[in-house]
Amino acid sequence: MSGRGRAASRTAVLVCQGRAAANGRAATGRFADPVAERLLSAAERTPVAEVRSNTPPSGWRERTAYESVRACAEVVVPRTVAIDEALRARAAGQLVILGAGLDTRAWRLPELARTDVWEVDHPASQRDKRARLAADLSATARSVRFTPVDFAVDDLGAALDAAGHDPSAPTTWLWEGVVPYLTRNEVRATVAALAVRTAPGSALVVNYQAPSARAAVGRLLTRVLGSSITSGEPWRSLWRPEQLAAVLAEGGLRVVSDDSLLAVAHTLDIPTRGRVSLRSGRVAVAESP
Ligand SMILES: C[S@@+](CC[C@H](N)C(=O)[O-])C[C@H]1O[C@@H](n2cnc3c(N)ncnc32)[C@H](O)[C@@H]1O
Repeated sequence: MSGRGRAASRTAVLVCQGRAAANGRAATGRFADPVAERLLSAAERTPVAEVRSNTPPSGWRERTAYESVRACAEVVVPRTVAIDEALRARAAGQLVILGAGLDTRAWRLPELARTDVWEVDHPASQRDKRARLAADLSATARSVRFTPVDFAVDDLGAALDAAGHDPSAPTTWLWEGVVPYLTRNEVRATVAALAVRTAPGSALVVNYQAPSARAAVGRLLTRVLGSSITSGEPWRSLWRPEQLAAVLAEGGLRVVSDDSLLAVAHTLDIPTRGRVSLRSGRVAVAESP
């Protein structure tokens, strides 16, 4: 998945479609993403509209797209709620979003009015996002700085230095939906790189995937059939909570909460049909004392 020649992330689009499908329909009052739909093309909006109106299409390809968006919406609602609530509680002057994809927080969270946001992402995904951002969409964050980085090969610290991030001031780090796509060593290297830029009073909000029987089957199929079954974005690392906590501790970050998406979903009035995905998806918050 590394390499300059790769295409923009398709999973980033799917997650955005999931948020657009759920906006105004699921967990209203705690979840909202009115910006997501604006980042999608007309073709990408079609399955979103079908999920919103509960009208599954008949063709195989169309039905697959519909089911992917529907299942994704179920997972991204508790994930977004957990992360938004953690960020609101920890609005620092600097927010670095690692693997931002089509994240919309810098354009929708009023709590970021005094926060500078660095959107770090693979160059291909970032180019794609910038092309999607409409000129009339204004940020709610104080500033947004696009910082292209391939975690597999680039120096995160050098890129953030060049983009004006201040390592001596508190930073909130957000790492959503990215950890599974990185190898264990890439995760460790990224934690080490952010740790040296993590001033006291900083926090990391990280979404990751714990092992499950279904994930094990998926990884086996990918090994046998190749990465085409995962749109070229196979999962590379799954973490038990204590394993991730140990890596974060090496970087001076202490985990203060770590919840499964299923536990978060139970606090919301939403369907939980995809119990395996919800149980293995987690959001942890770690703080730098
Ligand atoms: C599933 S998307 C998640 C996007 C966003 N954080 C969200 O949750 O909506 C995965 C993101 O990880 C990024 N990513 C994966 N591997 C990467 C790498 N080696 N370097 C930089 N970004 C990477 C992709 O470009 C993509 O934006």
